[in-house]
Amino acid sequence: MLSSAPTRLNTQTDDAVSRIVIQGGATLRGNVRVSGAKNATLPIMAAALLTDEPCTLENVPMLEDIFVMTDLLRILGAEVEIDESNHRVRIHARDIKTHCAPQELVERMRASFLVSGPVLARTGKLQTGAPGGCKLGSRPVDVDVRGFKRMGAEVFVGDGYYKMDAGRLVGAEIYMDYPSHTGTENLLMAATLARGSTTIVNAASEPEIIGLGNALREMGARVHGVGTPHIRVDGVERLRGFHTAIIPDRLEAGTFAIGAVVSKGEVVLERVAESDMLPLTYKLREAGAQVWWSESSMMVRSGKRLEPVEIQALPFPGFPTDLQAAFAVLMTQAEGTSRVFERVFNDRLRYIGELRKMGAQAEQVTSQEARFTGPTPLTGADVSALDIRSGACLILAGLIAEGQSSVDQIHHVRRGYEDIVGKFSSLGADISYV
Ligand code: EPU
Repeated sequence: MLSSAPTRLNTQTDDAVSRIVIQGGATLRGNVRVSGAKNATLPIMAAALLTDEPCTLENVPMLEDIFVMTDLLRILGAEVEIDESNHRVRIHARDIKTHCAPQELVERMRASFLVSGPVLARTGKLQTGAPGGCKLGSRPVDVDVRGFKRMGAEVFVGDGYYKMDAGRLVGAEIYMDYPSHTGTENLLMAATLARGSTTIVNAASEPEIIGLGNALREMGARVHGVGTPHIRVDGVERLRGFHTAIIPDRLEAGTFAIGAVVSKGEVVLERVAESDMLPLTYKLREAGAQVWWSESSMMVRSGKRLEPVEIQALPFPGFPTDLQAAFAVLMTQAEGTSRVFERVFNDRLRYIGELRKMGAQAEQVTSQEARFTGPTPLTGADVSALDIRSGACLILAGLIAEGQSSVDQIHHVRRGYEDIVGKFSSLGADISYV
């Protein structure tokens, strides 16, 4: 289906599907083809604003967040065509018609703030609402804003919005106080059209940022060191269009891998990048699961017994904060006490209250530390997805719980997981939307 009409604005509120119901107890077996990564797609869609030439993205997951970004790009003046059945998006930002990113979109999805770097670089101006997104603790954008200032932007911070004026940005030396994922992407994109060279020190090095760097290179940007903490960008006068394929979603793959282990099954994840999965692979093996690779397929099988482990969620290549909640389900089944230290976000353990409704022996020690004692049989319950990843965690818990579980607020999950019900069903789970 080819669509160019902006029809998606109300998907969050008028969604007919609000719950997922699971009958626990199935053993997951089979193959899953992993979708393209949401968090790699969003910055590359924003990067299409850097050029007046057409850009094509392949392997795009068809998710709510992609449609929010589509709406935003259209408001800014880009033509966007979505070919849902072929997972393809075409963007043509011949002109940027406005430099104002509306507050309601930026509030709804933090990644909307990713248009800041490209719009500022292309038009010399920007007005945007302060970003919202999942409630995981404080989520400032001061790293981005300080970087834009270093590149010559005058920044006015109003009540819930930012206004920036820059003319052409100028290259600068930027030290990031924190290796922010979105911050690195914003500054990297802004620097491509700046006059002179920019260095970004203490940059984030997540695989999604490497995906963005590759697309920018294809556009003719002169970027070096992407994927390391030290990036250099030599600004150019103009950029070309690109045709790029989105990298596999390491977070979706990780969720299914953990599902295989906790359900005592065996799953093959197709089209995954081994290097992107290393932190999870280490921890799965340490817990006693078996993981092996054949080219781009990852095979995961549960061990006879699961050992307790400690995970520390950190920027890549640390353990991904986005898999921390899913891994907690595995911890409830390990023999002994496991510990989680969430070091990226300061309030990302709220799902523990929901897991406890299902019988998990889980204790939140501080807002960033938790203990899980197992093995504990879980029982079906009515629980709520509090954000994208806690929703995935509760679905995994429902898969192994005795009886029926119902997970509501499922619009969160639909922001991040393409066809999660279809994929779990194909592995043998008894799961459906209500
Ligand atoms: N931070 C600062 N100052 C800043 C920016 C961030 O202190 O100026 C702190 C935040 O307070 C937070 C931490 O840094 O505690 C992480 O923030 P970061 O900016 O790195 O994260 P993000 O860019 O907002 C992206 C992903 C998240 C993922 C994190 C961490 C996208 C669209 N989002 O968020 O994904 O959890 O990086 O890897 O790429 C998700 O997909 O469910 C999701 C939340």
